[in-house]
Amino acid sequence: MDYNNLLNKIKEYRKKAEKFNPEKPEQIEEFRILFLGRKGILNELFSEFKKISPEGKKETGRLLNELKLYVSKKIERLKNEKEELKTDHKTYTDLTLPSSHIKLGSRHPISIVRNEIIEIFSRLGFYVSEGPEIEDDWHVFSALNFPEEHPARDMQDTFFLEQNPDILLRTHTSSVQVRVMETEKPPLRTISPGRVFRSEAISARSHCIFHQVEGLYIDKNVSFSDLKQTLIYFAREMFGKDTEIRLRPSFFPFTEPSGELDISCNCRGKGCNLCKYTGWLEILGCGMVDPNVLSSCGIDNEIFTGFAFGMGIERIALLKYNIKDIRLYFENDIRFIKQFTSAY
Ligand code: DAH
Repeated sequence: MDYNNLLNKIKEYRKKAEKFNPEKPEQIEEFRILFLGRKGILNELFSEFKKISPEGKKETGRLLNELKLYVSKKIERLKNEKEELKTDHKTYTDLTLPSSHIKLGSRHPISIVRNEIIEIFSRLGFYVSEGPEIEDDWHVFSALNFPEEHPARDMQDTFFLEQNPDILLRTHTSSVQVRVMETEKPPLRTISPGRVFRSEAISARSHCIFHQVEGLYIDKNVSFSDLKQTLIYFAREMFGKDTEIRLRPSFFPFTEPSGELDISCNCRGKGCNLCKYTGWLEILGCGMVDPNVLSSCGIDNEIFTGFAFGMGIERIALLKYNIKDIRLYFENDIRFIKQFTSAY
């Protein structure tokens, strides 16, 4: 065989080797024998190589060695792939086994109680309204009939961000009722859950951040008995159907008359440290919206009347779950939080 013939043959076998793509594992061994076996292609080509003239040896020698290296590497690679395929089989999951457990989180007790409050009032036709946490003096105090010298306006109680004009963190969600009355037309029936801020020392019973739900109902002929009936419904849905309520006279600048609502304690006054032997637990403030507030917010107080109420979510949750320390809500200790499960 002459030099050119050998060169073509090497190239042809190289192509063949490159094309080789086994469908079954046994074909790898057949391929090895074909190329590298004692009577295989490479041995045959090497014996041809010996016979050609010295001028052609440089090029054909190089191509032959490359072909041998290529074939050996390819066989090694194919064998490894075959092994991997085998071991893959071993790690296949048994799909009939029960699945590994996915750990689900739980809602924060404040979210659970907030959602439950929303749910109860939505059954009475109340919709949710929201307002900003950073407010101005008008919406938090002035429109709500707070006198100029009222202590809630003091730096000790309120976080001011800017002064003259005053920009502050809302101290209650009553600011949202002002925004609703200014922008919507009666009849209004809304609740406003949200976060509020007061400059208070943190203790087991108070915190500088907490949550409230504000309620507002404005229509023609809304009376105090509507307020009372709404609150009885809420108390019984929230705390159980045997819950009794008690309204005590109170004062808020934005309602007249104003009251505070107590619910009966489960101990019925026999004695517990929640109600301190009184048999009653305070849950919210309420009253008939002051006619001054209605007119400040652009509502005709000759035609419309209404009631409002406001409650602290932390306090409701504290009574519902018998939680001893308000700080637990904000520590996010998973051992505390995971105890609460609910449909809400
Ligand atoms: N805003 C009051 C507070 O933070 C709660 C409140 C009391 C809201 C009486 C009302 C209400 O709407 O009528 O203490």
